[in-house]
Amino acid sequence: MSLRKKILIAIGIVFIVFIVIQFIQPVRNKSDQLLASDISHIVITSDSVQGLLKNTCYDCHSNNTIYPWYSNVQPMGWLMAEHIKDGKDALNFSEFGSYSSRRQLSKLNGIANSIRNDIMPLKSYKLMHKNAQLSANEKVLLVKWAQQTKDSLSVK
Ligand code: HEC
Repeated sequence: MSLRKKILIAIGIVFIVFIVIQFIQPVRNKSDQLLASDISHIVITSDSVQGLLKNTCYDCHSNNTIYPWYSNVQPMGWLMAEHIKDGKDALNFSEFGSYSSRRQLSKLNGIANSIRNDIMPLKSYKLMHKNAQLSANEKVLLVKWAQQTKDSLSVK
């Protein structure tokens, strides 16, 4: 078989695999319900804090992801589903109220640390979401909020 033919067959196989995997769509993380356990019902969140969390964290850390068009293209959608699953396991703002007080405190600590150290939102997410970049001021606002909230909870 000529090299040309081999290359054409290889391209054909890749193309067919690409088409086939499009039919394997992950389950969507979508909910219209605002649970009673949502963090906005549990602690004081100003509109600006709530807006920043929604814009930069909720896609991976809540029961409601806003999906971009390319989530319909596999394997992008699979990758996102993986991030969302791991993100929700680690911290779910929609279910914050169901955490023990100890867990709530430790999560608030984690939120402050992850923002301060630029670990969250994930780099890959910031690459794809231009409006998920936190400015220096926004970081200060969120870190302060997390710390104050933690202090107010530990006093209770
Ligand atoms: C693209 C998805 C994604 C976004 C957006 C995102 N995270 Fe995460 N986050 C993850 C994943 C996945 C993990 C778990 C794995 C890890 O620790 O890297 C995680 C872990 C965490 C943890 C650690 C929880 C623990 O106790 O182990 C905290 C805290 C956190 N994220 C806070 C945030 C905050 C705050 C934002 C918004 C400013 C944010 N994340 C945005 C995906 C995301």
